[in-house]
Amino acid sequence: MLELKNVYFTVQEREENSGGLRNIIDGINFTFEDGKFYAITGPNGSGKTTLAKLIMGVNPVSQGAIIFKGQDISAWTITERAKAGIAYSFQQPARFKGITFRDLLTVATGIEDENKLLEILSRVGICPLSFLDKEVDAKLSGGEIKKIELAITIAANPKLAIYDEPDTGIDLWTIGPMVSLLKKELAENHTTTIVVSHNRAFLEAADVVMIINSGKVVYSGNLEGALPLLDDLSVCTYRDSCEGDRDAGCYR
Ligand SMILES: Nc1ncnc2c1ncn2[C@@H]1O[C@H](COP(=O)(O)OP(=O)(O)OP(=O)(O)O)[C@@H](O)[C@H]1O
Ligand SMILES: [Mg+2]
Repeated sequence: MLELKNVYFTVQEREENSGGLRNIIDGINFTFEDGKFYAITGPNGSGKTTLAKLIMGVNPVSQGAIIFKGQDISAWTITERAKAGIAYSFQQPARFKGITFRDLLTVATGIEDENKLLEILSRVGICPLSFLDKEVDAKLSGGEIKKIELAITIAANPKLAIYDEPDTGIDLWTIGPMVSLLKKELAENHTTTIVVSHNRAFLEAADVVMIINSGKVVYSGNLEGALPLLDDLSVCTYRDSCEGDRDAGCYR
């Protein structure tokens, strides 16, 4: 359903680093099947958000192709991808002064009728009236804005939903219900779901766990098979980041 064919995202390093080219996404080939739940994990800076943004079209691929439902969407805009049924929930959602949650929901769904909007909110487990007219500005807490972002993504009824660390800043009591909600959306609306997360609750809920390291898919399969590699990676990245610089905050 969503196929990544030899996908690269390459940037020019700054002069003070190497000044050369760096493949942040480094030749990924992968097929996401319809109606499955995928959890993408991997060390900080390994390329997870970059990959999510390539799928949504926030960044263009440098090489390779993204095929969605048989069509090459590599050159499509974000809007074209959204219309085709792809939705993306940002790791760090934007905040807008003067814009309310109601405004954003209406833009995402085209619905203005208050009762229908309230129905959407209760579907995502948000206490409706207190949230609908909140401004999505700097005053919202980190957890509140993530919940709003999640609600907007779900409300768009996507065929493919990508959530980038939906649990960041979310309280312990909400994570379980959030996992159940995404599973329910998948079961009822057949939403293929990709969650980028470091949280074990999402990894346990997934049909497929994908591990990304240095821009490559180094594992895909069940959680049991992923665990030894995750242990290993935590050691590797820890050592790498300390390499040659023993005073750089390394606790070894
Ligand atoms: N447009 C860009 N130009 C230059 N470097 C970039 C660009 N986008 C991302 N990077 C770098 O690519 C690397 C991967 O970033 P990315 O945000 O994808 O990591 P991540 O796996 O999502 O990490 P985290 O777990 O911390 O969210 C980082 O080193 C980041 O600084
Ligand atoms: Mg990220």
